[in-house]
Amino acid sequence: MRILVTGKNGQLGRSIHKLINADTKIDNNQSSNDFIFVGREELDLSSESSISHYFDRSNKFDVIINCAAYTAVDKAEKEQELVNQVNHLAVKQLANIANEQKAKLVHVSTDYVFDGTGGKPYKETDKTNPINVYGKTKLAGEKALQEIMPTDAIIIRTSWLYSEFGNNFVKTMLRLGKERDEINVVSDQIGSPTYATDLANAILEIIKNKEFKEISQTTQIYHYSNEGEISWYEFAKEIFKIAEINCKVNPITTQQYPTPARRPKNTLMSKDKIAEIFSVKIPDWKESLNTCMSILKNNL
Ligand SMILES: NC(=O)c1ccc[n+]([C@@H]2O[C@H](COP(=O)([O-])OP(=O)(O)OC[C@H]3O[C@@H](n4cnc5c(N)ncnc54)[C@H](OP(=O)(O)O)[C@@H]3O)[C@@H](O)[C@H]2O)c1
Repeated sequence: MRILVTGKNGQLGRSIHKLINADTKIDNNQSSNDFIFVGREELDLSSESSISHYFDRSNKFDVIINCAAYTAVDKAEKEQELVNQVNHLAVKQLANIANEQKAKLVHVSTDYVFDGTGGKPYKETDKTNPINVYGKTKLAGEKALQEIMPTDAIIIRTSWLYSEFGNNFVKTMLRLGKERDEINVVSDQIGSPTYATDLANAILEIIKNKEFKEISQTTQIYHYSNEGEISWYEFAKEIFKIAEINCKVNPITTQQYPTPARRPKNTLMSKDKIAEIFSVKIPDWKESLNTCMSILKNNL
């Protein structure tokens, strides 16, 4: 098996790497040597020729897991061309390459393909309507992939990703909580956090699943996040509670916290499909937050 993982320096890429190194997630037919991790140094998704060049020089892959993306949601509003290249056109190119190589493609997408006005957990079949550049380009990537690969790919939409790696809400709150006595956090955006290790676990479970390995399976979209429904405000309060940080959290509205990119209000997603088809573990958000924070504490 040759399994390519893009975005090796990102939260999800590093979480997959962590699990592979721990060696617990590999089945009898796989070894850690089967995984090839690449970052933008090796495979720059902002450049069509870099992508072609990389695959021209490499042996064929059996599975490509695309964890790389342009994820700076606010900055994206000003860098539309670059965001579109990385989140849409590069995905299209990867899908064409996967087709040529007869490789399976696992692509990661976002809850921001929805406008957040649904009022109940979004299913994979629900209407998409992204309200910012990031969401629009991620949706364009999904659509291009589905068109080019009607079979042999899966798209996993996730939300509010955090981990012990890189920059994320949990690490930002820990920093601000130590610097300030009180902090304002938006309380009218609802969703589910996702610990990147849980998603990494799910992806590694999926690629060894019989259902996934079968050839010519119709391409499917799945939703994956941790279990539970919270606001950013509640998330911040729990982070401070676990870390025993004495910082007051004030709930504010989205209107009181203007950002360059609009954010959807309620992007809660139903995980029934992924749970039913692949029986992956979906831990509760508080349990996973505790796990991540204990790792962060030990690393300090
Ligand atoms: N973060 C979230 O809250 C969230 C929510 C929903 C969905 N998602 C999706 O989940 C997936 C994983 O997200 P994440 O949080 O792990 O993202 P991340 O930590 O921002 O990592 C993304 C990685 O993509 C790489 N990348 C960016 N531009 C690239 C380029 N031109 N060429 C090659 N690599 C490039 C980055 O490389 P550098 O390290 O060199 O910058 C980074 O390592 C993405 O598809 C994202 O859209 C994320």
